[in-house]
Amino acid sequence: MAEPDTVFAPESEKTPDRNLALELVRVTEAAALASARWVGMGDKESADGAAVDAMRALLDTVRMDGTVVIGEGEKDEAPMLYNGERIGDGSPPEVDIAVDPLEGTSLCARGAPNALAVIALAERGAMFDPGPCVYMEKMAAGSEHADLLDLDRPLPETLRLIAERKGTDIRDVVVVVLDRPRHEDAIRQIREAGARIRLIPDGDVAAALLAVTERSPADLLWGIGGTPEGVLAAAGIRCIGGQIVGRLWPRDDEERQAALDAGYDLEEMLDADRLVAGEDVFFAASGVTDGDVLQGAHYESPQGATTESLVMRSRSGTVRRVHARHDRSKLRDYERAERKG
Ligand code: FBP
Repeated sequence: MAEPDTVFAPESEKTPDRNLALELVRVTEAAALASARWVGMGDKESADGAAVDAMRALLDTVRMDGTVVIGEGEKDEAPMLYNGERIGDGSPPEVDIAVDPLEGTSLCARGAPNALAVIALAERGAMFDPGPCVYMEKMAAGSEHADLLDLDRPLPETLRLIAERKGTDIRDVVVVVLDRPRHEDAIRQIREAGARIRLIPDGDVAAALLAVTERSPADLLWGIGGTPEGVLAAAGIRCIGGQIVGRLWPRDDEERQAALDAGYDLEEMLDADRLVAGEDVFFAASGVTDGDVLQGAHYESPQGATTESLVMRSRSGTVRRVHARHDRSKLRDYERAERKG
């Protein structure tokens, strides 16, 4: 008989199961601390490298049999945290892992808000594999507007429905949009409808989390962004509540054909449950730079550094905000990772 899986199938009511997110937060803290040393230094590759090294080193301390399904890319271009890499000590549970050691590399390099270190984990086979598609259309909002998300309905109409639901004027509806030329037409439509826009240079995972947060200054995230970020945002939303819908957005005919050949339905609207299925989803994120949802990692004194993290689990619905103080003299591993970067 197979050994009981202590995370996904607790042995008995008396045996508290593990909340893996509480272990994963050490991983995102490490990545945030490592990349924070590069904030504002104008070197996004080194910032990312430091985060990857730190995250990879800590991940092997987690008791699990993990496979990276959303990682840094294919093995030949990413020496660590590549798609398909096995992570953990090999003991149960078997899990899928999505990582973005530094979400918002340019934000970090420029010292701009909302760079995060992020990881999500779910049962094996639970995470959507975007295949050859780099981008997806996305729409995310809090649970009060979840049923209004529809990528086929004209955007101005959705904004009017949100305003109606809120009982406000459409001018009180705020949409977060990545500032990209591909969004020019939609930006014009949103403004013509009378709604307001928060244009962001990068970082649509933080933006998705902001859009689903209660009493948020943003009602909706809309736009075409990375598919890995879409899966990570969906994992967070499975835990915190709200909804995201996405649809693969091939960049050109070649990518479209590759997706069709691989059996993808390019019309399918993917919701949070489809992007990250399963009963138990774990999510941890730590701020690298100060932002809308998390404060960044700060090296404040010769002795200490601080981090702020979100630690969440879908099954229990627990959302923890973890403020940590780290002893710099004990951070040698991260410092080493930073130098290697
Ligand atoms: P990186 O961390 O890889 O730099 O991604 C940042 C980001 O802004 C994501 O948040 C977003 O989903 C994606 O890039 C958008 O892609 P692009 O910059 O190519 O438009």
